[in-house]
Amino acid sequence: MVEFALPPNSRVQPGKVFKAPAGATRVKRFKIYRYDPDSGANPRLDTFEIDLDACGPMVLDALLKIKNEIDSTLTFRRSCREGICGSCAMNIDGANTLSCLKPIEDIKGDAAIYPLPHMPVVKDLVPDLSVPYAQLASVKPWMQTQTPTPPDGERLQSPDEREKLDGLWECILCFCCQTSCPSYWWNGERYLGPAVLLQAARWILDSRDEFTGERLDALEDPFKLYRCHTIMNCTKTCPKGLNPAKAIGAIKEKLIERMA
Ligand code: SF4
Ligand code: SF4
Ligand code: FES
Repeated sequence: MVEFALPPNSRVQPGKVFKAPAGATRVKRFKIYRYDPDSGANPRLDTFEIDLDACGPMVLDALLKIKNEIDSTLTFRRSCREGICGSCAMNIDGANTLSCLKPIEDIKGDAAIYPLPHMPVVKDLVPDLSVPYAQLASVKPWMQTQTPTPPDGERLQSPDEREKLDGLWECILCFCCQTSCPSYWWNGERYLGPAVLLQAARWILDSRDEFTGERLDALEDPFKLYRCHTIMNCTKTCPKGLNPAKAIGAIKEKLIERMA
C-alpha cells in the first residue's frame, strides 16, 4: 500500500486512525481532512480503513459508509449522487472533482480527501461558498428582456442560436474550476473566476437575452474578467468536461467585436 504523507511543515496534524474490521481483505485507507473552526483546534487528517468488498465503487460511497458506520460527525455536502447537483465537489487525490463520479479504484495508494482549496472551511469537507455565490448573483444569471413576451409565452431560437449555448448550459456550479484557478486564489474578491464567468457567457451568448451590452459593460473591469491569464486549470479540472477558459475567451471576443 502506498503511504500518503503530510508535508513536514503542514498545519494539519495526523489525527485518529479507524482500523478495518478483522478479516477484511481488500483494505483502502482514506485520509480525510477534519476541521471544526469553532473548536479552536488545528485541522487534522483522520485515517479510515475501509474494506472495499463492503463498500460501493465511488469515493462518495466510502464517505457515506464512514458517516453511517464509523464516524457520524464527518461533514460533507452531497445530494444527487449522480453528477447533477454539484454539491459533492472536493479535492480528491490532489484534484478538484465530484466525489460521486470519482471511482475509488482510480486512486493509487491512500486516498487523500480535502475540501475545495483556498476557500474558508465551514467544517471538514464543506467550504464556505458565500463569495462565489454572491459573485454569481452579480452577473444576473437569468434572462433579461425589454420587449413584451410573445402571446404564446415562448421566445424562439434557431438551431444555430441554440447551439451556441452548448458547453455552457451543462454547468452544474460545482465550483471545481473556480477553486482550481490561481488567479482566483490570489484575487478571489475581485476576479469573478471561471465558473461565474462561464455563467456570464451563457447569458451573453443567448440570442433571446436583450441586455448583452449591459452585461458586457459590467465585466469591462481590470479585475472581474481580465485576471484570467489562460492558465487552463479550470478546463483541466471540470468534472463535466466543460471549457470555462473558452467561455471567458468568448466574452473577450464579444468585447473586441463591439469596439470594432
Ligand atoms: S484559464 Fe483563466 S479562469 Fe481558467 S484557471 Fe486559468 S486564469 Fe483561471
Ligand atoms: S464549469 Fe465545470 S467545474 Fe466549473 S462550475 Fe461548471 S461544472 Fe463545475
Ligand atoms: S452528489 Fe450531486 S454531483 Fe455529486
